[in-house]
Amino acid sequence: MPGSTWEPGPAFRHGGAIDLDSGEIDGGGLEERPPRKSLRTEGRAIARSQNAAAQRWKPFSVRSKSFGARDNLPMSTGNVRASSARRRQHWEAIYEHRSPTEVSWYQRVPAVSMELIEEIGVPHDSAVLDVGGGTSTLVDTLVARSYTDITVLDVSAAALDTSRRRVDPRAQVKWVSADLLTWQPGARYALWHDRAVFHFLVTPADRERYLQVLRAAVLPGAAVILGTFAADGPESCSGLPVARYAPDKLAGILGGSFRVIASRRERHTTPTGAVQPFTWLSARREPEG
Ligand SMILES: C[S@@+](CC[C@H](N)C(=O)[O-])C[C@H]1O[C@@H](n2cnc3c(N)ncnc32)[C@H](O)[C@@H]1O
Repeated sequence: MPGSTWEPGPAFRHGGAIDLDSGEIDGGGLEERPPRKSLRTEGRAIARSQNAAAQRWKPFSVRSKSFGARDNLPMSTGNVRASSARRRQHWEAIYEHRSPTEVSWYQRVPAVSMELIEEIGVPHDSAVLDVGGGTSTLVDTLVARSYTDITVLDVSAAALDTSRRRVDPRAQVKWVSADLLTWQPGARYALWHDRAVFHFLVTPADRERYLQVLRAAVLPGAAVILGTFAADGPESCSGLPVARYAPDKLAGILGGSFRVIASRRERHTTPTGAVQPFTWLSARREPEG
């Protein structure tokens, strides 16, 4: 629940761990296991709605329309604003020219995300935040699984617009159009989920800013899931350089106030058939010492 400390479910006590010395991955590669039947069934339903949406999809013109954008930025120096504007422009152009099912990060079923979320045991009424959610079907799957307090944040208003039109309005998803690096969270979340956003931060300053926002958004007891390109993953995406991570490196970046729950290696297959290795890490923010 926003504004309160989230109590971890029983899965925390049984969560896996990684060997930080060897970098050994606990839990095995998900690519070797097909999604559970219910996920496959949900995936088909979501794919049907996404296919219908893709057929209706028309290239966007970049709009100024936003959903809950926050403009009172604490770091509103010229440079920060300029780089924020560049990020927005870059991602709006991507979503303007590519349909959701064409982008390299498209996945019909967010299998690893859901596996990690369910392993953590996040209560279905707790506040879940998908940062850089884009047009991901994670929100659809969470709605289908009866999660009731979902926020999707993205720097691209066009991406959010696509998802918002696809998702059942009765789900009352909160859509936040904002640059994560200048965002001031107005609520506290029990789960922070990031697939393929953190790896675009290639400077220590941007990574530190991300961690500041993360710490402001999640209280002790809350969980974090990060999915990034693996150490042997692609060196760029969408024309942008990326940083690549092994699980121990991601854990080190989160720091000692986060306890690792589990990690995964995934081989994501893009719509054109390329394989992209991903590293996944879930962790829980420890109570302040
Ligand atoms: C590779 S896509 C991944 C989208 C989604 N997480 C998924 O798994 O399908 C990266 C997403 O992060 C968003 N993004 C990139 N930088 C951002 C930032 N600084 N603040 C908010 N969103 C950002 C982009 O607009 C894009 O939707």
